Amino acid sequence: MQETAPPRTYRVKSFGCQMNVYDGERMAEMLAQRGIAPAPEGEEADLVVLNTCHIREKAAEKVYSDIGRLRREDGSSPLIAVAGCVAQAEGEEIMARAPAVSMVVGPQAYHRLPDMLDRAVAGERATDTDMPPIAKFDALPARRRTGPTAFLTVQEGCDKFCTYCVVPYTRGAEISRPYADLVEEAHRLVEAGAREITLLGQNVNAWRGEDGAGRGIGLGGLIRALAKVDGLERIRYTTSHPADMDEEMISAHGEVAKLMPFLHLPVQSGSDRVLKAMNRSHTADSYLRLLERFRAVRPDIALSGDFIVGFPGETDAEFEETLKLVDEVGYAQCFSFKYSPRPGTPAATMDGQIAKEVMDDRLQRLQAALNRDQLAFNRASIGKRCAVLVERKGKYPGQWLGKSPWLQSVHFTGEVQLGDIVTLELVEAGPNSLAGQLLAAVPA
Ligand code: 5AD
Ligand code: SF4
Repeated sequence: MQETAPPRTYRVKSFGCQMNVYDGERMAEMLAQRGIAPAPEGEEADLVVLNTCHIREKAAEKVYSDIGRLRREDGSSPLIAVAGCVAQAEGEEIMARAPAVSMVVGPQAYHRLPDMLDRAVAGERATDTDMPPIAKFDALPARRRTGPTAFLTVQEGCDKFCTYCVVPYTRGAEISRPYADLVEEAHRLVEAGAREITLLGQNVNAWRGEDGAGRGIGLGGLIRALAKVDGLERIRYTTSHPADMDEEMISAHGEVAKLMPFLHLPVQSGSDRVLKAMNRSHTADSYLRLLERFRAVRPDIALSGDFIVGFPGETDAEFEETLKLVDEVGYAQCFSFKYSPRPGTPAATMDGQIAKEVMDDRLQRLQAALNRDQLAFNRASIGKRCAVLVERKGKYPGQWLGKSPWLQSVHFTGEVQLGDIVTLELVEAGPNSLAGQLLAAVPA
């Protein structure tokens, strides 16, 4: 590699989950701290960070085609860093196959990006896929700017080893950030403009820590503490694992007004045989009973989940059990995916891999059921009055977009400002959003 001029502009492209969005924001902050500016829309950046996702399908191929697309007519490229989970899983191959890449940095090492950048400018290529627990967060600069909603990573990694999933390999073992750091970061985010914080973790409800008095607490305790932060109005969290749910977390939904009535709790399948083969430590029935406990303390709680169709060996009858579970729950919204064999995971080499057409058909049927329920949930909201956090301007003049407590997108018009929490009556419902009528520029 040759020496290059230090970059003046950057662009971070994040793919995949919300934790990548958070990581991407933090990388951007580090670059900004170095005096590098975000590249204006439509202009080439001197430095491009591809913050990649490895969870499903052809992730690595996508990275190579993105790198190819960055090539200029004269054959040169901007400085390119590959970050995220593909970097962690396939860093060496990327370095070997893509000479245009000068930095490969894993999800636990991106605090070292500025040093790697110095080396890249000097003409050196560098890979850092170390997994030091927690060091990253201590090394990141303070948060300075955010919109009305912000992410806060409280936990990272996964010890569950579901047999289809790469996350335990790319994000490493479960770690919890310390309580005091999180309370501090929440204060900084509120000072920087956040009114809602979404607590993030691959297994966010596996978070464990000690409060100011040295008492052991879980995520429910952390949420109770964060609810005391003045100016923070709404708390959400994602993604949870059924095995880590405890009474402290469930009762928080009944007791903490700032905790929004929404639960994303992946189930993956409605068949106990498939769940066992997936190494999910719960059954369909234990999952349903857990949801009942949430509904008992918070009857209006909106439910969300993740599903995989076509896991190796899944029979038609087993897939029907997934549809049955969907009918029983009545989800407000869900994510559903075709099984994708991930290199190095146990399921990738299991017998009974399912044909593509079968998967397509199952996904279509599952999504038809989920879409039906989502529309029904939205329609059932018509006539409700609720508080909406104003998050963005809408497409039309005077129009605003926000979220209901149940995470529905709501559009409306009126004299409001970004970050206001307003009272709306929900008047119309589509599959993906609702229309609201402004009743008061303050919450009910
Ligand atoms: N194939 C398909 N979907 C997957 N997920 C995780 N790994 C795979 C895979 N190999 C889905 C699960 C998980 C969500 C984040 O992605 O549903 O909950
Ligand atoms: Fe992957 Fe399972 Fe861990 Fe979720 S709980 S990150 S699906 S291994």
